[in-house]
Amino acid sequence: MQLKINAPALKGSLKVPGDKSISHRAVIFGAMAHGLTEIRGILKSQDVKATIAAFSHMGVGIVEKADCLFIYGKGYEALQAPHQDLDMGNSGTSMRLISGLLAGQNFTTTLKGDASLSRRPMDRIAIPLKQMGALIEGQGDKQVPPLTIRGTKKLRPVSYQLPVASAQVKSAILLAALQTEGETQVIEKELTRSHTEEMIQAFGGHLVQKGKNILIKGPQELQGQKVEIPGDISSAAFWMVAASIVAGSQIKLENVGINPSRTGIIDVLKQMGGKLTIESFDAQKMSATIKVSYAKLKGIEIGGELIPRLIDELPIIALLATQAQGQTIIRDAAELRLKETDRIAAVTSILQAMGADIQATSDGMIIKGKSQLQAYNADAQLDHRIAMMTAIAALVVKKGHMELKGQAAIETSYPNFFKDLERLYHD
Ligand code: S3P
Repeated sequence: MQLKINAPALKGSLKVPGDKSISHRAVIFGAMAHGLTEIRGILKSQDVKATIAAFSHMGVGIVEKADCLFIYGKGYEALQAPHQDLDMGNSGTSMRLISGLLAGQNFTTTLKGDASLSRRPMDRIAIPLKQMGALIEGQGDKQVPPLTIRGTKKLRPVSYQLPVASAQVKSAILLAALQTEGETQVIEKELTRSHTEEMIQAFGGHLVQKGKNILIKGPQELQGQKVEIPGDISSAAFWMVAASIVAGSQIKLENVGINPSRTGIIDVLKQMGGKLTIESFDAQKMSATIKVSYAKLKGIEIGGELIPRLIDELPIIALLATQAQGQTIIRDAAELRLKETDRIAAVTSILQAMGADIQATSDGMIIKGKSQLQAYNADAQLDHRIAMMTAIAALVVKKGHMELKGQAAIETSYPNFFKDLERLYHD
């Protein structure tokens, strides 16, 4: 598709779609709980559809009416063996979290995915879930999908120190632990998004958390709930950056989730000199309205415990850095190489081709700004965030013609991305 270039000042307001991480978990916990779960504000995207379809195949009643998703949960004991392989599409979150749940089920299931997901390592969940007693078989050393899981109702508790900072791995173990007799301990490498822990408690479950240590006793019975999902800060981040780099812009983003384990992008924008204000904070939903305007930016260093709080925003932060004065160094982010694509390679190759001064390192990127970006025909490489980063980069290109191949990847997290761009882009 042809991308819009040379954007005029972006103006107006938007409500970004529901949070992807919370949407997956709301469906998973609704399906594991007893009784009715009502979900409002769910993200309607390919990734979340993959999670919903997986539970439909396991016999869970799920009905969508108007803007609400109803899940008729009968407890995780009542899940049924699916009659076919479960297709997780592009979604690593679906595959890793559902594997944790399946580890505690008395049947065998195969989980498969698209070309991107079929390259992603599943050994990170297979290792702890095998220690707990499930049989898990992927392909090759890294246990890439298809992944066959033979669960057991007799899982053993473990004490597991995560070798990587990953909310997906943490969540897989917690979902298995909920079905396990005895106390499981998970020790995080760095604090990562806390949505699973919060949702366990919201559904009437218990756990004890002290810093990076989580203790959880099973088995636990969960109760269906009403869940209201805020907008996804990872989707909002594209507009925060767009407004910060397109001269004269001033936009308002409503209902953005601001769970502190996800707000690294706000910290970074502020440190770089971005103009951003947070208003109308809703403590119950943990959401707020965020106003962002164009600003003169400066380079900074980004690493350490900040990384898990903005891991999905690093592609768009790299673009931001190309429009900031001076040097930005991103380090401690080797995990980026294991996302929907190798995001360090994808981001540097596209932005270099557009004329930016950006170098890949083993665990991050070094970017020197400010650069005038030029038109380039890019390939999204089956990665939604690479596609959206490229579309935002095009906005600051002054002349020429810019094409994006593979924009369909955006369906996985933000189907209305281009419609929302229209709302802010006034010719
Ligand atoms: C997610 C965790 C992160 C993130 C992904 C969603 C989640 O992955 O990149 O988009 O919902 O738990 P890792 O756990 O692999 O870091």
